[in-house]
Amino acid sequence: MLSNQKRIINTELKNEEISFENNLRPQMLSDYIGQTKAKENLKIFIDAARMRKESLDHTLFYGPPGLGKTTLAGIIANEMGVHLKITSGPAIEKPGDIAAILNNLNEGDVLFIDEIHRLNRQVEEVLYPAMEDFVIDIMIGKGASARSIRLDLPKFTLVGATTRAGMLSAPLRDRFGLINKLEFYTPEELQVIIERSARVLGVTIDEEGAAELARRSRGTPRLANRLLKRVRDFAEVKYNGFIDATVAKDALDLLEVDKLGLDNADRTILLTIMNIFSGGPVGLDTLAAAIGEDAGTLEDVYEPYLLKNGLINRTPRGRVVTELAYTHLGLPLTLHG
Ligand SMILES: Nc1ncnc2c1ncn2[C@@H]1O[C@H](COP(=O)(O)OP(=O)(O)OP(=O)(O)O)[C@@H](O)[C@H]1O
Ligand SMILES: [Mg+2]
Repeated sequence: MLSNQKRIINTELKNEEISFENNLRPQMLSDYIGQTKAKENLKIFIDAARMRKESLDHTLFYGPPGLGKTTLAGIIANEMGVHLKITSGPAIEKPGDIAAILNNLNEGDVLFIDEIHRLNRQVEEVLYPAMEDFVIDIMIGKGASARSIRLDLPKFTLVGATTRAGMLSAPLRDRFGLINKLEFYTPEELQVIIERSARVLGVTIDEEGAAELARRSRGTPRLANRLLKRVRDFAEVKYNGFIDATVAKDALDLLEVDKLGLDNADRTILLTIMNIFSGGPVGLDTLAAAIGEDAGTLEDVYEPYLLKNGLINRTPRGRVVTELAYTHLGLPLTLHG
């Protein structure tokens, strides 16, 4: 078992991090760094909606964990000057739950549904007319006397987030006016985020220290902030609290986060493909079973970064490791294919 929960570079949110993250969350589009495409798109739609004094179109964000989906939902509400109501797919169990939430919204409000791919079918069906025509149909009474009545809803904006766009049903997906894919951040963007977070937290760090952290944060702001916090602790205990390149390097080596931001779990994946499956191709399920991880987690949490960095490739016959993976791990290129 790779025990994703214990990884320092696990990009999913940990409970104890919630208030830490909230303090570091940019509040407006202008302090949101990176994601240029999504940001430009949003800005146009937000400006247009404001000009027409209408609510913003329903918006979907998808991409790996920790890239800023929740942050953007908050920013949309702030920019539109409306309230943000936060819930999540698994938290809405019955059609009545979603009906109650919708009914309590005010004109223009943003309803944020995290993990929206995990909504159940009946709940989704309540959402369709709500999103399209701002109405809900509710059943009153039971048996022969049951009848359905139609309630008008305020014009709200649904903001959905998912790490698994592929699992979203087509009818739901089609009802979003704006669909934004969030990308991994460049080291340069992450460096700016780290420098900003350091200012907020009162951490002293120089440019090279921030750059070193940025390179090893696997394109993910959540991880950049988490590593900053861990390296700060290290700097306070072992040095005088100041983070420069050497301190950052020492601390990250100790945390076993390598130059590409890979940790032991990533290395296990690469080594498993190399050693057990002769470099691949190996199917997702087989690989997942070999490392004792859930296939969905492997695909959404581990793979995107390995793919993006060219350490593995997807082929019609399964995953293969690349030459670069051998070089990165300092291993001789064995015959495979
Ligand atoms: N563009 C950005 N600029 C600065 N900080 C950012 C940016 N995007 C995200 N962050 C920081 O990264 C952290 C994680 O972001 P967020 O919670 O929005 O990610 P997420 O995509 O919703 O993740 P999940 O899929 O786990 O819900 C936040 O604390 C936020 O401070
Ligand atoms: Mg989130």
